[in-house]
Order: sequence, then structure tokens, then C-alpha cells
Amino acid sequence: MSQETTTINPETLKKHINARRTFAIISHPDAGKTTLTEKLLLYGNAIHLAGSVRARRNQRSATSDWMKMEQERGISITSTVLQFPYKDHVVNLLDTPGHQDFSEDTYRTLTAADCAVMVLDAARGVEEQTLKLFEVCRRRGIPVFTFINKMDRPAQDPLGLLDEVETVLKMQPVPMNWPIGDGDTFMGVYDRKTDEVHLYDRTAHNQTISPEYITTLDDPRIEAGISDFQFEELHLNIGLLDELAEYDHEKFLSGEQTAVYFGSALTNFGVQLFLDDFIKMAPPPSAYPSDQGKIDPVSPGFSGFVFKIQANMDPRHRDSVAFLRICSGRFERNVQVKHPQTGKTLKLSRTYTFFADERAVVDEAYAGDIIGLPGNREFSIGDTISSDGDFSFEPIPRFAAEHYARLINLDVGKQKQFLKGIHQLESEGAMQVLYETDATRRDPILAVVGVLQFEVVQARLENEYNVQTKLEPLPHQLSRWVEGPKEQIDQLPWRYGMMRTEDLDGRLVALFSSAHELSFYSEKYPDIKFLSIQ
Ligand code: G4P
Repeated sequence: MSQETTTINPETLKKHINARRTFAIISHPDAGKTTLTEKLLLYGNAIHLAGSVRARRNQRSATSDWMKMEQERGISITSTVLQFPYKDHVVNLLDTPGHQDFSEDTYRTLTAADCAVMVLDAARGVEEQTLKLFEVCRRRGIPVFTFINKMDRPAQDPLGLLDEVETVLKMQPVPMNWPIGDGDTFMGVYDRKTDEVHLYDRTAHNQTISPEYITTLDDPRIEAGISDFQFEELHLNIGLLDELAEYDHEKFLSGEQTAVYFGSALTNFGVQLFLDDFIKMAPPPSAYPSDQGKIDPVSPGFSGFVFKIQANMDPRHRDSVAFLRICSGRFERNVQVKHPQTGKTLKLSRTYTFFADERAVVDEAYAGDIIGLPGNREFSIGDTISSDGDFSFEPIPRFAAEHYARLINLDVGKQKQFLKGIHQLESEGAMQVLYETDATRRDPILAVVGVLQFEVVQARLENEYNVQTKLEPLPHQLSRWVEGPKEQIDQLPWRYGMMRTEDLDGRLVALFSSAHELSFYSEKYPDIKFLSIQ
């Protein structure tokens, strides 16, 4: 039995959906992702004083043992979804964890975004983690804006930074504005599209919107505010810009070009100009691939997929929230949906939108929006939910694990809780779980991308399931699904370095100690397929 949402005029539906801008910010830790997020919220009128998101985040960390780990280590593990209206648009900002050990989490969040903003530190350029996350955007084929941040500090030469983007990221950078001064003399930006100059004043603690003066390049304040050398160079560079590639919207959408903005998130310089361009240039929700072809966002049936499950959103309730990216149609509270993974029909009556750690009941939402389904432990990452129920979105690919360890339950009396916790954490995507096939012990083997994931799993098992565990690291570095003739598979040198395991679906998985070992056995046994687990 399928139930459509209340009929909505197709034109109205289209208008709502096309107004959505859903994106994530990616950066190397410390480049300014949190600061830019805050300033976008400030200019989006979603907060009135910058500083509150960070404060809230710290507050939230302090209320949960597990989150305490984030605070102690000064890292951001969890993702938050923020929504705010801006100039006839609805902006959905997906916050991603900055620490590289959680890049798989970031990757999953990026599957729910229609574009990304890459924040670079103007003094550091493209850093290691930026590159890794950028590769994820490329894999998804989403357009990427570049915000070159911290221009109020001594910065690298802007042309050199563009060059670096081009050579390292293999994407044509198109500067949309140009910085005027840098470090102490950074006073604003020249907007190439209008030929206007935007000069700014700083505000107390940079907490409120900066006064802005729109003027032209011959404004005497510019010559007076920067050195003669900088002034000469500014004119020279602006002359040179015309020789660089022109902005081409199709090339931007296909990821061939990136639109580059210079600014300072801390002092607010250039933030509004960026946001104004962003809502015009960022794509509206795009079609998502499914086993029945691409699902058009403006089709009337409601559908979406779970891209994140987060426990402890509200430590007082110890609940878990499944985050759903709406891919098509309109969501209405109490809609009946199908969940193909369990075959069940569900009524979505408790649904929320989120602002930092605050939640508000959502009665209606559209493709592009993210809604939270709290307390429901039936969902796993990648699950499809739809009113029609006759298709599944493509699964979210996984990152290849790089670290393996056996997890031992220290209290056999709590085996039930232990297994329940492992199962729940696995469905949240906190780690992958394997079991050694020929061992007498059935201790799970955890496979993770970054070692901090081990700590999160152990801390959560202790806090949420009251189970103490011990971790025994394994020397293996990579894993492959194994398929082929049984006699040959049995002949593989399982005892010597290679470990024979199975995943939760019962598929055979081999763990290898090195890439060299894998290629050696791939050549030696050409009839056996070693499929990458991603
Ligand atoms: P992240 O989320 O990418 O890790 O970076 P975050 O925004 O937390 O910024 C990292 C540090 O860089 C912070 O300083 C922040 O204030 C500073 N920062 C961000 N944007 C700018 C900018 O445009 N100009 C300058 N000069 N600094 C910037 P912190 O000292 O680590 O933290 P805090 O004490 O200032 O909060």
C-alpha cells in the first residue's frame, strides 16, 4: 500500500525544490571551516552573534561522555546539519568532521550534498586532508567552490595559490574576486563580475556583520590603505585576470572549474559576497541514481536515503537519530513510507530538523532537505525510504579499511549487550565488522579507516552498553572479498599471514599484511577474484 503525500501543484513543488541549496564545507583542520560556517549563519541571520556555534558545540561535548573525547582532543567527530533561509532560498549546510580518521563519515555526508565549499588557508594552500576530501567530491562529481581564507594574515601570493589549485587538484580555478592587500592591510575584495570594490570595517570581536562600502578601484582609500608595491601589484594582477579562464557555469557544474573567492571568515570580509554568489551558482537538488534509474527530485513521490546515524544527539534520552537526505518530492509529517531493507511500512510521525544540538519538529520538507528520524533503530546507513517503495538508491560506497584489530569482551556475562552494541555501531557505520572463520573464538575483528574510530567504538560500548573491552591490534593492512572455485580458495596460504574472515553477510573476506602480498596471490591464482571492499 503506497501513500502519496497530499497533492501539491507540480509548479509549486518545483519552486520549493529549486530554491534548495544543500552543501558541505571541506577543509584541512584549522583552515577555518567552523569559522566560515558560523559566519555564513551570521549573514544568513540564523545567529546574531558569531561564537555561539562553537560555544554550543563545547556545551554539547560536556554533556556526554563520548563527546568528551572530542573536547579533550580538540577535534570534531560528529556532523551537524544546519538549515537557514537566505534571499528566497533555503540553505542546508552539512557540517563534516574535520579529523582525518573520520573521513569515511565525511564521505557519507558528502553523498547527501549537491556541492561543496573547499576552505583553504591562504598561507598554507592545498593541504593533505583537503586533497583527500576533494578527491571524494571529484568521485561524486559535485561542483566545488573554493574559499581562500585568512587573508587578514600574511598570505601566499594569490596567483601562486591559484596555480597550486590547478596543478594539485587538476581543476581550473576561476577567481571570482581579488583580494585588496593582505595580512594587516587586507581591506576588502574586488568583485570581477561587477567591477566593484567591497571594503569593510572590522567589528568588535568580529561578532557582528561588518560595515561594507561598495566603491571602485580608483577609490583613494585603497591607495592610502596598502603599500605602493601592493597597489601597483593589485592593478597589474587585475589586468592579468582577464587573461585567465573565464567562468563557465557548465564547466563549474561538471567540476572542471572551481569558482574561487578570497576573504577572511574571522573578520567577515568577503563572506556576504560569497554567500550571495553561492546561492545563485550552487546547483539545486540533483537526481540520485537508484536500481530503477535516476530519481528526479521534482517527481511527486517522496523518497530519501539514510546517510548518517548519530547516537547521543540528546544524551538525556540516549537516542539515536537517522539523518535522511530527501531526494525527491515533498515530505509531510505522518507520511507512510516503505523501507525496502526490512520490507516494512512505516509512518514517519517523529521527524526533526536540527540547529546545532537543538531540534524542531518538521511538518514539511522538500528534496534537498535533511530530516532527522529519532529513536528508530531499524535504519542502517544507505537505507532507502520512499512512499512508492519500489526502488533502492545506490549503496553508499565505503572507504577501504586500513587498520584491523580484534575486540575482546572482558566480561563474558555481558556478551548479549556486547553483540547488540557491535551490531548497532556497525549499522551506524562506526566501523566494519568481520569474524575469523576457522577460529574457535568468535571475537569480532574491527576494520576501520582511522585508528580513532577504535577509541570511539570502545568508549561507546562502555558508556552506552556498559561493556568493557580490550583491543588487540592485528598486523593486516588491507582486505578483499574473495570469490572463485572453492578448492582453490581452500588452497590459499591462510595460515601464513593471510587471515580468513567473513563479514556480517557471510561473504568471505581475506586480510592481507601488505599490498605486495595481495598482488602476489592475485597473480598466482588468476581464477580467484579479490574484490575491493569499498
Ligand atoms: P576548522 O574548523 O577548519 O578546524 O578551523 P576553525 O574555524 O576552528 O579555525 C581554526 C583557527 O583559525 C581558529 O583559531 C580560528 O579563529 C582561526 N581562523 C579562522 N578563520 C580565520 C581567518 O579568516 N583569519 C584568521 N586570522 N584566523 C582565522 P584558534 O586560535 O585555533 O581558535 P579561537 O580561539 O580563535 O576560537
